[in-house]
Amino acid sequence: MTEATAWDRLKSADRSTLSELFASTPDRLSQFTLEEVGIRFDWSKTHLTPRLVSDFAALAQEMDLGGAREALFAGKTVNVTEARAAEHTAERGEGNADSVARARMFHARMRALIDAIEAEALGPVRHILHVGIGGSALGPNLLVDALGRDSGRYDVAIVSNVDGAALEEVFNRFDPSATLLAVASKTFTTTETMLNAQSALEWMTEAGVEDPYGRVIALTAAPERAIEWGVDETRVLPFAESVGGRYSLWSSIGFPAALALGWDAFEELLEGAAAMDRHFRLAPIEKNAPVLAAFADLYYAQLRGCETRAVFAYDERLRLLPSYLQQLEMESNGKRVTASGAALTRSSAPITWGGVGTDAQHAVFQLLHQGTHLVPVEFVAAIEPGHPLDEAHHRQLLVNCFAQGAALMAGRESDDLARAYPGDRPSTTILLDQVDPRTLGALIAFYEHRVFVNAVLLGINPFDQFGVELGKEIAKSIDSEGTDRFDASTRALIARAFG
Ligand code: F6P
Repeated sequence: MTEATAWDRLKSADRSTLSELFASTPDRLSQFTLEEVGIRFDWSKTHLTPRLVSDFAALAQEMDLGGAREALFAGKTVNVTEARAAEHTAERGEGNADSVARARMFHARMRALIDAIEAEALGPVRHILHVGIGGSALGPNLLVDALGRDSGRYDVAIVSNVDGAALEEVFNRFDPSATLLAVASKTFTTTETMLNAQSALEWMTEAGVEDPYGRVIALTAAPERAIEWGVDETRVLPFAESVGGRYSLWSSIGFPAALALGWDAFEELLEGAAAMDRHFRLAPIEKNAPVLAAFADLYYAQLRGCETRAVFAYDERLRLLPSYLQQLEMESNGKRVTASGAALTRSSAPITWGGVGTDAQHAVFQLLHQGTHLVPVEFVAAIEPGHPLDEAHHRQLLVNCFAQGAALMAGRESDDLARAYPGDRPSTTILLDQVDPRTLGALIAFYEHRVFVNAVLLGINPFDQFGVELGKEIAKSIDSEGTDRFDASTRALIARAFG
């Protein structure tokens, strides 16, 4: 079978409604529900059928998903356009033995520095100011926000935006003499991060901190640049070049989380991710969570024309999950070329968007229920609440979450069109036992592998991001080369803003 034939077979899949699928298949729930590493995945309210799964499996075989997965774990050059491996799994102990050993060595270095900080070897530390952007901020921010809000160990602020207002807010509440500055940048060249780091150093200097450079930690895959910038070698926490920016929270980029939550929690996070790695590697296709999730993604994006997918966290602790996933999914699979450089003849990844429930119900769910767009929805919730308040709160939260999925699917008939719901709208529910480091590690690893499966089946390389370069180059050249080469609109905006 060729790739084209596999897609053709998929196009001929039956179009039963969700209600029809439930009615015709008594064991639909068990067919499309999995429990792995403390997470229940429920795809029964999607249009996946055993026939679709087997047709996607044929496509997966044609695209050599098994080979690609082994190449990923073996540390082969899967990022072909940048000629390197993608070794985030080695950070959690799953992968090429040399890469795992190197990751362990870097982790040991991070742990030793954390021990030293806790022993006050760098002086008193109450606040951690982490500056970084994109993958150097979104992952640590998600971890600290989800798991560390009341750890009581340190106040952590993660600043990404170059807008000075973001830093100023932190300067107003942190004591400069009790602040540790973590500069997180894989390349140690990103303009926004380097400017924020410089301003934070100046804030410390102006406040009379004796040796501000002595309170800087660098988290980077370019240690020589960090040293050149002024960070002492002993406080540089390296990670491997083969760990991609948006896959880097497992490396030293996770430093603020490891410090704020404690080393044991960080190790549990890695272990949870490793458990999901093993599941992804070993489970058969029809029982493989990242694979089934990717099949559903591809079904909606490629065969039902869905241009977006929505993720709603029904848990305050996971409120940053949608923005984390936006980078993971859109920077990885928002590509118009295949890995071999040919034009992609299908849609690239859908647009990921979302928010927090139940808030989103009172804002955007109108469109999901009655708009003309078909949007596959993903609900992420946890059985254990994250607070000691009356259980009525958590019950309301979960009941609402489950009610939305049921309503999207069932719809409601009415002679009054304004009050009718078409129904047959798909949703997936991901129900965590609890929001703890191990489960969150597994959840994030699940998303990483799901992105990978989507990429392999589309034939694209999820590990590069050339699409972000042009805007950066233009921004840099405005000061050095002037504005003559720009269009009239851009020239006028620059003139109006800067005179
Ligand atoms: O601009 C995109 C990007 O390269 C992301 O892929 C990356 O996570 C982010 O910038 C930050 O890069 P760095 O960690 O090198 O500062």
